[in-house]
Amino acid sequence: MARPGKAELARQLRGHLELLAASGVRELPVKARTTKAAPVKAAAKLAPKPAAAPAQPRVAAGKAVIVPSVALEELKGFGSPQARALEPVAEAVRQCAACSLCATRTQTVFGTGDPRSPLMIIGEAPGGDEDALGKPFVGRAGKLLTDIIEKGMKYRREEVYICNVLKCRPPGNRNPEPPEIEACRGFLYRQIQIIQPRVILAVGLFPAQWLTDLKLPIGKLREQVYERDGRKVVCTYHPAYVLRNYTVEVRKKVHDDVLRVVQILGPGPLVKD
Ligand code: URA
Repeated sequence: MARPGKAELARQLRGHLELLAASGVRELPVKARTTKAAPVKAAAKLAPKPAAAPAQPRVAAGKAVIVPSVALEELKGFGSPQARALEPVAEAVRQCAACSLCATRTQTVFGTGDPRSPLMIIGEAPGGDEDALGKPFVGRAGKLLTDIIEKGMKYRREEVYICNVLKCRPPGNRNPEPPEIEACRGFLYRQIQIIQPRVILAVGLFPAQWLTDLKLPIGKLREQVYERDGRKVVCTYHPAYVLRNYTVEVRKKVHDDVLRVVQILGPGPLVKD
């Protein structure tokens, strides 16, 4: 096969950089001494504005808080057997009309993160920000969840797989209804089967009750580690609850809960590339 010429290489490079820029990548690592500055210039041209300080969540009134590592989540485990196995499930979710939430959603929210991860975090349902962006936990609760993962557990958000019990937003962020959970359960079940996490961290009442099969309050469910189909299940309060009850006591409980996860999995990195 003929080697591509300079123009073709430049076209391919531009396409690649555009893809990275569209995924939120704003910087590329550069070798300290390089004579080929062109790719860096191209990247700099594509990036809207170089960030002066370390990436901080962009917050605008009424807008989603963009968690910096969310873009990276798209890249971890890309092309792995698990990612390929998840694709038809994600497509089935996109096409799903099994309950009335399909009429009010902007888009479905399937999951993000590394599908090879030994740790899966399962939340309740997408909120407004997640419905707008198509990714789980990207609003204020998502920012706190990122802190819990990165500061509390000392893992990186992109090496954890994150999804929800429901794949569509309940209008007005109301609680999921039992028939909606029932309609969605097959999708979550397939995600767990494909990812095969060693530990599932259930954040909030609905995933905690779903995973433990116990109709107890979250304050009770969080008190122990459960075994389900050969994996461990740890339950904790939902980050939105923590934001509403931001006391030392509640934060300490969440910290104790997530340390149970670290005790089982050990220190990161969770996925060794
Ligand atoms: N709350 C959830 O349970 N999941 C999300 O994705 C966002 C908020």
